[in-house]
Amino acid sequence: MIAGAPAAGKGTQCAKIVDKYGLVHISVGDLLRAEVAAGTPAGKKAKSFMDNGDLVPNEVVVEMVKNKLGEDAVQQNGWLLDGYPRSGEQAEAIEKEGIRPDVFLLINVPDELLIDRVVGRRSDPETGEIYHLTFKPPPPEIVPRLVQRSDDTEEKAVNRLRTYHANVDAVIGYYKEQLVEIDGTQSMDEVFASIQKAIDNAKVVAA
Ligand code: AP5
Repeated sequence: MIAGAPAAGKGTQCAKIVDKYGLVHISVGDLLRAEVAAGTPAGKKAKSFMDNGDLVPNEVVVEMVKNKLGEDAVQQNGWLLDGYPRSGEQAEAIEKEGIRPDVFLLINVPDELLIDRVVGRRSDPETGEIYHLTFKPPPPEIVPRLVQRSDDTEEKAVNRLRTYHANVDAVIGYYKEQLVEIDGTQSMDEVFASIQKAIDNAKVVAA
């Protein structure tokens, strides 16, 4: 599992983890954005919560994650859960299913650095690559096709941060034994080196 405040670098590191370890990346934010884009009932319910930077209700999220974790490719290759659980209730829900991580990575970045990361983020809809206008500048030829998330404004980021701080301690409480805190202020490659160390040293608890 990987956790951290908005724009702490979870998605950036997940891409590197998947490359190296071949796990299936399950990003709850990406799953929800796909539901919103497809206009499904779940997406319609989720949209206003996401726009406000609040947690989407458990009735939408919990089953979605459970179904995803049950897929064949996930069972065969292992999972990397990004952005779940985000509350004590969500942790409790997967505990009940016997789902536990081998390692719980918490990427720590002070709030004052996160707003810059949020507003400068752009992603490439063709490759899924995440860029930052300052910290990871995109190649000039792809700039016209890059997109900015609708919740990546300073105003929305403030509430996303508030939501994160209100819930993170309850989540950590479930994973004290698997918790590894990562200094997310380092360069992207340095963060990944710390993560590799944590994964390679993790005691495997799940089959
Ligand atoms: P989600 O999509 O998960 O958003 P988030 O948690 O706010 O995280 P982000 O995707 O913004 O950031 P990230 O940590 O992946 O950072 P990134 O690598 O892109 O969730 C969105 C919404 O969905 C939530 O607000 C909520 O409404 C809903 N939701 C999701 N999960 C839910 C759940 N379980 N229950 C209920 N609702 C849920 O990096 C950010 C930027 O920084 C990039 O530009 C990157 O290039 C740059 N960067 C990365 N690392 C570094 C570094 N080391 N140095 C400098 N720059 C860096």
